[in-house]
Amino acid sequence: MLGSSGVLRLVKFAALLLIVVWCLGSFVSYESTYNGLVRTFKDGKHLFVSDFLAQEIDGDFDGRAISALCASKQWTPGLILSCDPTPGGIGQVRNAHLTCIRFAMEMGAELVVPRIVKRDEKDIAVLMPNVGGPQRGHPIDYLFKFEHLNQTLAACCPQMKVYRSMDDLYNVPQVMKGHPISLYDIHASLANGSVIDDMPSLGQQIKKYIDEVAPTDNRVYPIRFNLAVTKWAFQTAYDGPAFAGSFGRLLRAHEDARRLAAAALYNLSKGFGFNLDPRKGIKESTFVGAHLRTETDVDSLVPDYESQAAYLLDFIVNSRVRVVFLATGATEEQTTAFVARARDFNVTVVLKKDILHGDDLALLDRLSWDQRALVDYEIMLRAGLMAGPSESGYAWNLALRRRAISGGAPNNSSAFPVSSARVQYHDRLSTIFGRSERGSVFMQTIWP
Ligand SMILES: *[C@@H]1O[C@H](CO)[C@@H](O)[C@H](O)[C@H]1NC(C)=O
Ligand SMILES: *[C@@H]1O[C@H](CO)[C@@H](O)[C@H](O)[C@H]1NC(C)=O
Ligand SMILES: *[C@@H]1O[C@H](CO)[C@@H](O)[C@H](O)[C@H]1NC(C)=O
Ligand SMILES: *[C@@H]1O[C@H](CO)[C@@H](O)[C@H](O)[C@H]1NC(C)=O
Ligand SMILES: *[C@@H]1O[C@H](CO)[C@@H](O)[C@H](O)[C@H]1NC(C)=O
Ligand SMILES: *[C@@H]1O[C@H](CO)[C@@H](O)[C@H](O)[C@H]1NC(C)=O
Repeated sequence: MLGSSGVLRLVKFAALLLIVVWCLGSFVSYESTYNGLVRTFKDGKHLFVSDFLAQEIDGDFDGRAISALCASKQWTPGLILSCDPTPGGIGQVRNAHLTCIRFAMEMGAELVVPRIVKRDEKDIAVLMPNVGGPQRGHPIDYLFKFEHLNQTLAACCPQMKVYRSMDDLYNVPQVMKGHPISLYDIHASLANGSVIDDMPSLGQQIKKYIDEVAPTDNRVYPIRFNLAVTKWAFQTAYDGPAFAGSFGRLLRAHEDARRLAAAALYNLSKGFGFNLDPRKGIKESTFVGAHLRTETDVDSLVPDYESQAAYLLDFIVNSRVRVVFLATGATEEQTTAFVARARDFNVTVVLKKDILHGDDLALLDRLSWDQRALVDYEIMLRAGLMAGPSESGYAWNLALRRRAISGGAPNNSSAFPVSSARVQYHDRLSTIFGRSERGSVFMQTIWP
């Protein structure tokens, strides 16, 4: 006779066997049915979030153009490039980091992944707390995924050796001190203050400078150069559309930000019946993503709240879309005014805090200012229509990436939803208001 523990063991064993056989069977012959069944049983939000996280909105990644560019450069083992940690919002950090990586490619150098200077949470206008003191910054994971960057570079640009930080070089004392390098040092000719206008000479200019600083006959490797923060410098058109369209994807948003964006979108989708599918890019005629750039860190060139609110409302009303997601760090007073004004036109405006709840809201509250802006960014990418001001690199980042996602959305929309304001850029999905010199530099130098 079996004792009760014996029966239990037998039952457990049989159950295990059943699971093993069933899994094998499912994977061998019924994989798709199995996945379909799992999809049916998983709860809607869970499924939505995991679909969202499983792939980026841009679709499959094609790294061939990056591989080709890397293969065309001359690489010098032991020549190392680090870049100063970058302060500022995600538009600036994203561009400065990509510029650093692109510069390392031009130089044929190994890369120390740049860090990020976290702004002062109590006064967001202070981009560089502890100024004058050492600027070590935070690891890139603060906003973007290191693993993703490293693995993508390893796969597409194997010539480039990647160090997570200077700590990886602790046992190489000779690289502790880096030689400074900048676009000014190498005498690059710059248009509009920051844009490299002689790309074919850049490689030679870098080499000449390095040879001056460290003459080849007595150069000892490894040797490190350190690039001052450089942004809005590379004309993205120069490397061709395939490179420009894939390069920015080296930087993938922090997982928490993407998870919260997914939860927020699920709420929007359910709440307003948009029926969004995160596996399927941008769905038009859903909601307007509006960026109001009136935070305390703006400078005097950015239009004030009244003008921005006026053109955003004009855009929204003419678009005939009735739901707006507002991405902003504006004051409570301004957001309340905007929400109320829109309500007069029967338009519902939501912010991320309105569409997150429970654990998600608690997680949002733990994030820093710029991490929260990243949540907005991931939501705005998926808006049916998007609008923002020309002075905002953040808005340009969104518009240009959305253009890339939609395969260069033509700007021939018959229902172009603007009646009065000046427009610097627009396509079927995105509109940039105003007109600024800065805007034309952004347009040339932001990788989607
Ligand atoms: C980066 O990826 C390569 C290739 O997978 C791996 O060998 C290396 O350890 C990674 N570097 C770090 C710092 O994780
Ligand atoms: C808003 O909706 C109400 C009720 O449906 C309607 O009476 C009103 O005219 C609408 N207002 C505008 C500006 O569309
Ligand atoms: C969306 O979020 C709001 C506010 O937290 C909540 O009241 C509502 O139940 C949520 N809706 C869904 C479908 O999750
Ligand atoms: C806009 O241009 C695209 C591509 O040229 C074309 O397929 C589409 O029909 C055009 N749309 C309108 C509204 O003219
Ligand atoms: C539409 O796109 C074309 C070509 O890219 C451009 O020349 C034109 O100025 C754009 N129109 C508007 C209103 O932005
Ligand atoms: C940028 O520089 C070029 C060349 O110097 C000049 O022609 C152009 O007007 C400038 N653009 C802006 C927006 O300043």
